[in-house]
Amino acid sequence: MIIVCKTVDDAGWLTMRQALWPEGTQAEHIEEMISLLEDSKRYGQFIVLGTSGEPAGFIEAALRYDYVNGTETSPVAFIEGIYVKPDFRSQGLARQLINVVIGWARERGCVELASDTGLDNLASQDVHKALGFVETERVVYFRKCL
Ligand SMILES: CC(C)(COP(=O)(O)OP(=O)(O)OC[C@H]1O[C@@H](n2cnc3c(N)ncnc32)[C@H](O)[C@@H]1OP(=O)(O)O)[C@@H](O)C(=O)NCCC(=O)NCCS
Repeated sequence: MIIVCKTVDDAGWLTMRQALWPEGTQAEHIEEMISLLEDSKRYGQFIVLGTSGEPAGFIEAALRYDYVNGTETSPVAFIEGIYVKPDFRSQGLARQLINVVIGWARERGCVELASDTGLDNLASQDVHKALGFVETERVVYFRKCL
């Protein structure tokens, strides 16, 4: 079962977010979650529940208006993050979450869904391919202090 996140207190959203992105403080996560909730046309957040009703994973999606590597339209829907708790993996929950986002994106007129993952996250790359994504580009980011 999938639920739409409506408040920062929704079933395990914060805890799972911290597991996926441990570098952020709790205050930073909450601030970001509030800003996502304030713009529901642009941002979508969903939690998947396990068979006993406990939070098992989440996905966050956004409409991106800036150029997204490898895409041909604008805006595109973008998977900002997807996470399934270790005990619930390989049970099709990521597939369920992606399918919900596909519906969310189509409702907003999108014809492309994009995503990214780390070069070293080979499991995530395999999952993307299994879920029908096609690899488009590999990029290296640079930074120079000014
Ligand atoms: C990536 C992740 C979300 C996958 O969740 P999941 O619920 O286990 O995925 P599913 O069970 O829905 O599997 C979807 C497809 O990927 C395949 N798959 C799942 N885990 C896999 C793995 N470790 N290696 C290769 N393929 C895998 C499945 O076989 C399935 O394909 P199929 O339906 O053709 O059999 C989960 O492993 C995770 O949270 N990882 C840590 C966070 C992360 O890396 N997120 C992505 C970057 S933001």
